[in-house]
Amino acid sequence: MSVALVTGASSGIGAATAIALADAGWDVMAAGRDEGRLAEVADVSENIATWAGELGDSADCEELIGDAIEEFGALDCLVNSAGILLRGDATETSDDVWRNTMAINLDAPFFLSRAALPHLIQTEGSIVNVSSYWGHTAGEGVLAYNTSKAALLMLTRSMAKDHGGDGVRVNAVCPGGVDTPMLAQGADEEDMDVDEFLDLVAAESPNGRIATPEDVANLIVFLASDLAAQINGASIAVDGGLSA
Ligand SMILES: NC(=O)c1ccc[n+]([C@@H]2O[C@H](COP(=O)([O-])OP(=O)(O)OC[C@H]3O[C@@H](n4cnc5c(N)ncnc54)[C@H](O)[C@@H]3O)[C@@H](O)[C@H]2O)c1
Repeated sequence: MSVALVTGASSGIGAATAIALADAGWDVMAAGRDEGRLAEVADVSENIATWAGELGDSADCEELIGDAIEEFGALDCLVNSAGILLRGDATETSDDVWRNTMAINLDAPFFLSRAALPHLIQTEGSIVNVSSYWGHTAGEGVLAYNTSKAALLMLTRSMAKDHGGDGVRVNAVCPGGVDTPMLAQGADEEDMDVDEFLDLVAAESPNGRIATPEDVANLIVFLASDLAAQINGASIAVDGGLSA
């Protein structure tokens, strides 16, 4: 059985991806911060094991990869879904906001990818990074987030070029609005009713709806699978046509 490690797996896209991979027959290490919610994810399938902790520095990330290998003996796919969205334009972005954003959205995917690489070379596995529509097209008032997600796309392309020859594929998905706690947090910050905010986001998309976490998970499962064997270094939109 193939083995995947999914970060941010206690909620949203990460949780849906852990469950979708388990449904597709993968063994999954679901990594997150909230033990209660991780337990709910693990309840869905006996193929899911959990890891609770922060992705703070390279030591944390190396520990997580080591624990996944100890649990399952191999690694075929790393899904970097953990992320944070802290608002602010250049004048409003403090050192802390900038550093925290980069730490979780960019440093952790890099540290995890670097630690996973020897194992992925052994299995000819892959990495899927969860970037964003805002990694291509700047959202307003989310400077650090945009910058981190654009850099994540270049991390994806660089690793795809450097390690395609080792049999390792590295791809990114770029969601538009997805109905997750992160988007609900946007409603809070705009001081809007959540449903009203979700309607506004849905109206921006040509297909008139917000993605579900499962919409994004389906693409990730495909990219992780052998059906995507020739897809490497790609960033694929899952945004209902927003970026078209
Ligand atoms: N929801 C959207 O509209 C949307 C759009 C584009 C991209 N994304 C991206 O999708 C990914 C998943 O987000 P989501 O929408 O599922 O929201 P979410 O808030 O449900 O998930 C983010 C996860 O990251 C985890 N996380 C944050 N900081 C962490 C840390 N220091 N250590 C460990 N885990 C940490 C959180 O605990 C949470 O489980 C993120 O990278 C986000 O940027 C989301």
